[in-house]
Amino acid sequence: HLSELQEDDSSLLWKETFKQFVDIKANGPSSIGADLCLHGFSHVYGLPEHADSLQLRDTRDDEPYRLYNLDVFAYDLYSRFGLYGSVPLLVAHKLDRTLGVFWQNASETFVNIRYSPSDQQDEQVPLIQRRWREPQTDVHWLSESGVIDCVVLLGPSPQQLFSQYAQLTGYQTLPPLFALGYHQSRWNYKDEADVRAVDSGFDRHDIPYDVMWLDIDHTDGKRYFTWDPVCFPEPARLQLHLEKKNRKLVVISDPHFKADPDWSLYREARDGGHFVKDREGQLYVGSCWPGESCYLDFSRPDTRAWYSRCFALDKYKGSTPSLFLWNDMNEPSVFSGPEQTMPKDAVHYGGWEHRELHNLYGFYQHMATVDGLITRSGGSERPFVLSRSFFAGSQRLGAVWTGDNVATWEYLKISIPMLLSLSVTGVGFCGADVGGFFKDPDPELLVRWYQAAALQPFFRGHSACVSKRREPWLFGEEVTAAIRTVIRQRYQLLPYWYTLFHRAHTSGLPPIRPLWVEFPRERSTFSVDNQHMIGGALLACPVTDPGVQEVKVLLPGSDEIWFDVQSAEMHKGGGTLSLPVTLDTVPVFQRGGSVICRSAGSSHCSADLQLLPLSITVALDPQGAADGELYLDDGHSFNYLHRKAFCLRRFNMLSGRLLCRAASEEGAFDCDTVVHSVTILGMKSKPSAVTVHQSGSEDTSAEFQYMETCCRLTVSSLSLRVVTDWEIQIL
Ligand code: NOJ
Repeated sequence: HLSELQEDDSSLLWKETFKQFVDIKANGPSSIGADLCLHGFSHVYGLPEHADSLQLRDTRDDEPYRLYNLDVFAYDLYSRFGLYGSVPLLVAHKLDRTLGVFWQNASETFVNIRYSPSDQQDEQVPLIQRRWREPQTDVHWLSESGVIDCVVLLGPSPQQLFSQYAQLTGYQTLPPLFALGYHQSRWNYKDEADVRAVDSGFDRHDIPYDVMWLDIDHTDGKRYFTWDPVCFPEPARLQLHLEKKNRKLVVISDPHFKADPDWSLYREARDGGHFVKDREGQLYVGSCWPGESCYLDFSRPDTRAWYSRCFALDKYKGSTPSLFLWNDMNEPSVFSGPEQTMPKDAVHYGGWEHRELHNLYGFYQHMATVDGLITRSGGSERPFVLSRSFFAGSQRLGAVWTGDNVATWEYLKISIPMLLSLSVTGVGFCGADVGGFFKDPDPELLVRWYQAAALQPFFRGHSACVSKRREPWLFGEEVTAAIRTVIRQRYQLLPYWYTLFHRAHTSGLPPIRPLWVEFPRERSTFSVDNQHMIGGALLACPVTDPGVQEVKVLLPGSDEIWFDVQSAEMHKGGGTLSLPVTLDTVPVFQRGGSVICRSAGSSHCSADLQLLPLSITVALDPQGAADGELYLDDGHSFNYLHRKAFCLRRFNMLSGRLLCRAASEEGAFDCDTVVHSVTILGMKSKPSAVTVHQSGSEDTSAEFQYMETCCRLTVSSLSLRVVTDWEIQIL
């Protein structure tokens, strides 16, 4: 409860000292907590962001999970220490139920987890004394301030849980298609010539990509919304150059403003009362990249509106509609502050202390930036903004990444559980710096990192200013070729990724998922976090160790079959496969019963996709059936929402007939995209003929090839418009 200061012994509790920092608690000491017992559960997940395993650990002999957004330089691995963002959602799973506990509180929070196995499993209990008692998980929540606002989501299926959580905190935003392509970043690309050279390097080496990124030094003295007059004298010219190739530019915009009275934007913010105050009511000044800085108070609606207007094309000089944004250091990072963040007794809008809303600070900056980009386009274009800090609901805004990782195998490995933890807590558009931010990856690590990250939602190469240059062509032809292959595969798979994002946008189901989400009744999947599903159809097991010649892949489901995407070889589910690997092997398997659409041919960026034909891969289940979807729209505007300009197609195979039909009556979108080949995996015998039926035309027979060794049938030379109804009959 909030109290008035009394002059007695308890007044000592109103003041806390940490190193040289003094925190004066305006409303007295406070804390709130709750203990929950989850009966029957022995697996819990969620509570990002921590560099740790997907399944949360028992904390009885260790630190609790801390939710406190902090800028942590080269963070420790396998730690419960708080990183850049927080989502106070815990997800529990057992054979017949998935359950969520959402603790809506943005102050510093600790969570203790205690697993108690059932007596049956507990070897400490003498056999004779073992009675039947369910396992249970005790969860203890403790927050510094606020009220108890806790929602229990009952599932019972993982899909229902994700949908319930999305109804509560928002659905994944549908990103513009380009944002799902490959992004090339570095702290810093030096100047315009450097950016142009890297851009043309991608073309010269025939590697597709969509976005170039500029870090803090593109500005005039770390004043965001400005450009360095020597290195980037004509920023609009640079954006135009990229835009002509359908590529984009992203620039950084941090929440701190250089305290420089000669800078008009600083004066505007100061005079408009847009900065956070200290406990005395003066401007709070901390230090960050520009030196002495003030921090925008994004919790204030007027400040968010003002900040949003700063992105207007006529206000943000040198910006064009193809410029997108990156919010960094928004925990917020304060080099001179306690734990490198803002003091808890700093004061926000409405007199609220920073302690009350710390974990929401970055979320609100992200929100204001996103609004700025939408408003800039008159509400017609989808924004793209990457944020380092986040909170529950950040999925509505855009992408997040896992901050300053390191170029070692361990950090590559941990990126998978870190991204899965974000995914199960709704933040589906997430990625990790490819290659590792600090230090220099050796070529093998770099290749493996590209292979893993090409299978993750947000795909960006980024490195620190002290790291060596590492554009994909700097390590010899073998490395360039390996990286080119996986980036191209990413582009080929974009129709599938885009469909998954549409699913997340409408149902809350995250694009990448732990195995247990797809196999909720398979106990063997519950702790797996070196593998993941991409949608329901693909299982990925990236290689994350050096010099390996073989990997072990768990293929769940004793009644399932899986097809190796590289070799088309079929494997029975329900066991662990030993797969021989070379540097070129990326272990990915398509689940029997699924249909996937890929873009065929090569592109130089995502905009080409609209022009390329599709190839469809049907992986049959043991009953010879398969099912899948494809979502299509213009890839960049809000017309899919306001004018229902989209279409959702369904591919369904049963008894030798593949049907292409509308998956929903809603929406209309016309495009010329054609399907030019259909590959069917798991076809037990060679057909005598294949015919194609399109409404309004005569049946025709189609060309096909059958490979007996891997039971693969390819129907080629087709030209079937994907937005019309057709069927293929295998005779
Ligand atoms: C910290 C970010 O995590 C990193 O990606 C960025 O390059 C630096 N800040 C400099 O802006």
